[in-house]
Amino acid sequence: MKRILIFASGSGSNAENIIDFFWRRPAMSLQFEIFTNNKNAGVIDRARRLQIPCALIDKDQFNDESFLKAIGEVDLIVLAGFLWLVPDYLTKAFANKIINIHPALLPAYGGKGMYGDRVHKAVIENKEEQSGISIHYVNEKYDEGEMILQAHCKVEEGETPESLAGKIHKLEHAYFPIVIEQLIEE
Ligand code: GRF
Repeated sequence: MKRILIFASGSGSNAENIIDFFWRRPAMSLQFEIFTNNKNAGVIDRARRLQIPCALIDKDQFNDESFLKAIGEVDLIVLAGFLWLVPDYLTKAFANKIINIHPALLPAYGGKGMYGDRVHKAVIENKEEQSGISIHYVNEKYDEGEMILQAHCKVEEGETPESLAGKIHKLEHAYFPIVIEQLIEE
């Protein structure tokens, strides 16, 4: 039984998509647990509906090494729209076992404060011809860990942050579970 933790601060569509994907692969017998830092996050409702344990964490708890005891044995930590920087004790304890997804082609349009529509707005304002997703290992700096996979989409004439977000979400939902499957099968 492999154990995967998903950290999410927002809607949680990636979290739900990942869990659905592996529910269709029961032979992989994975156990999921969700953590969120936002008591209003949509991911809480999704977890309830999916009957997946979901815990609300605060900054002091997350930044204290004793959190390691709270999370126990873990095969993979997945950041799926989680806005806090991962503290050093966690990146060291789980080196190359924490992955993140970013809604742009890093290193461009990454770093602190670059998330959600801010990213898509900047891509469109800069008249980029393409955008995409970046799935990478997490280190002590925002969005700077070793790259695992990037997938691209066109930025077309008249693209809006909403339409680009839609294309990006489609790429995220297509690729994130596949990357996770490959990593846990290693
Ligand atoms: C995704 O766009 C992801 O790239 C970014 O946060 C968003 C999370 O979306 N890190 P959701 O909460 O999974 O719907």
